Amino acid sequence: MTPDASESTAITETPIDAFESSLVLVSNRQPYSHRHEDGEIVVDRPVGGLTAGLDPVMQQIDGTWIAWGDGDADAEVTDENDCVRVPPDDPNYTLRRVWLSEDAVDEYYYGYSNQVLWPLCHDLIGKTNFEDRFWSRYKTVNEQFAEAVVEQADEESVVWFQDYHLALAPSYARAALPETTLFQFWHIPWPTWDTFRVCPQRHELLDGLLANDLIGFHTERYVENFLGCVDACFEDARVDTDSGEVEYDGETTLVRAFPLGVDAERIGRLAGERDGSFWSEFKAEYGIPEGSHVAVGVDRLDYTKGIPERLDALYHLFETRPEWRERLTYVQKATESRSDIPEYQRLQSQVDERIDRLNERFATDSWRPVVRIDEHLTNPELYGLYAHSDLALVTPVRDGMNLVAKEYVAAQSDSDTEDGVLVLSRMTGAHGELGDTAVTIEPYDEAALADQIEEALTMPDHERERRMDALRESVLENDLDTWLASLLGTVQGLRRMNTEQADDRNRQETKS
Ligand code: G6P
Repeated sequence: MTPDASESTAITETPIDAFESSLVLVSNRQPYSHRHEDGEIVVDRPVGGLTAGLDPVMQQIDGTWIAWGDGDADAEVTDENDCVRVPPDDPNYTLRRVWLSEDAVDEYYYGYSNQVLWPLCHDLIGKTNFEDRFWSRYKTVNEQFAEAVVEQADEESVVWFQDYHLALAPSYARAALPETTLFQFWHIPWPTWDTFRVCPQRHELLDGLLANDLIGFHTERYVENFLGCVDACFEDARVDTDSGEVEYDGETTLVRAFPLGVDAERIGRLAGERDGSFWSEFKAEYGIPEGSHVAVGVDRLDYTKGIPERLDALYHLFETRPEWRERLTYVQKATESRSDIPEYQRLQSQVDERIDRLNERFATDSWRPVVRIDEHLTNPELYGLYAHSDLALVTPVRDGMNLVAKEYVAAQSDSDTEDGVLVLSRMTGAHGELGDTAVTIEPYDEAALADQIEEALTMPDHERERRMDALRESVLENDLDTWLASLLGTVQGLRRMNTEQADDRNRQETKS
């Protein structure tokens, strides 16, 4: 891509069915994984998160998805090129699996990705662990992914890298695919230069990412931070903060914000599908007394999510305002995550201890302040829980976007249930879009958070409805389709421009 790129790539929306190129999507996590169960091979399907959002896109485009094959039966169903057609019951795109050894998983996934880049980008330098072997392995695994890309893509393709696991793969792939359009979406925050410069591999990481034609972040702030890092790191880079263009090493990269949304229409529909008895059955199953308000928290067990801080605020609330005992139940849906990493084990113990402390101190014969749900909930169950909860507590200490906040709002569309209140940390990417009408909280201020939970519980009906209407409008307008259309529209603009320039070059060469 050459200078002036941004002029011809003013965001034009491209609905997914109008996308013209063949798409190669690359991510660490795969959409389908095959595993052994009771002597048979079963398939795990995407139930949430990004893989669930992108799977329908791939089904429509019929592209290739490259990802780590982490299922114990994955290798048994792939062909000689490591490919399998998915979804299994109606195959319409190709999943190409990358095989990683145990050591590779340990050093690339648990190591550099999740003990260096994850804490670094979330501004938690104290939790980083810069081991040399992590970095060496991160490079070789990124090479492995890039090799698969080079095998699957050609000049006509558009290659879409996802997230922080793959910061180097674009530059490795670029060497073999000089004309191919490469782009990346970074799903976590990008830190300021003051934080990023701590990283010994800062030059290599930025150099890897700048091989992309386009880099997307959730918010303008992360775009600014990224551009600031490039400017400070490379003397020979030209950074235009107005247009979001970086010229570096003879190439231009466009850097833009595309706030990720959720499939709001589907969530609202599924939440509304729960019949009248759902909520009373749900409450009976989990021991939530009739008449108690319900606050919900849904989190991967990650130290960025502010779960211990939230539980401390609840303790403070029940301790200082005993009138809320038996009148408020906090439901924590927790998903275990990255448990091989000591920081995650520590977090799990902290959460366990706090929940036990709350329940030991305040529980009565008929009520527990905290109900913890570890088992899987189906989408309709989860969205039904959102729809019926009086408030959602989304209190991360730092979060790139946070889709739970948006899912909670999307689920509130069921007309049978009263509108709930979104309690949202200032430190989430979602706060940029929803902060004006959510109840904004500071995750580290325990006493203030307790006050704000009480404020949310006692908010007058008209105020609750006013706020939820505004939130709903925002979440419906900026949904998953909008995100895809603006991201793919920009990529398509770049692709056309690259093609025109290549044609011009060819014509010039033929003339001379
Ligand atoms: C975050 C990351 C994703 C990741 C997800 C789950 O949302 O941005 O890339 O897939 O967490 O984490 P895991 O380590 O289980 O893939």
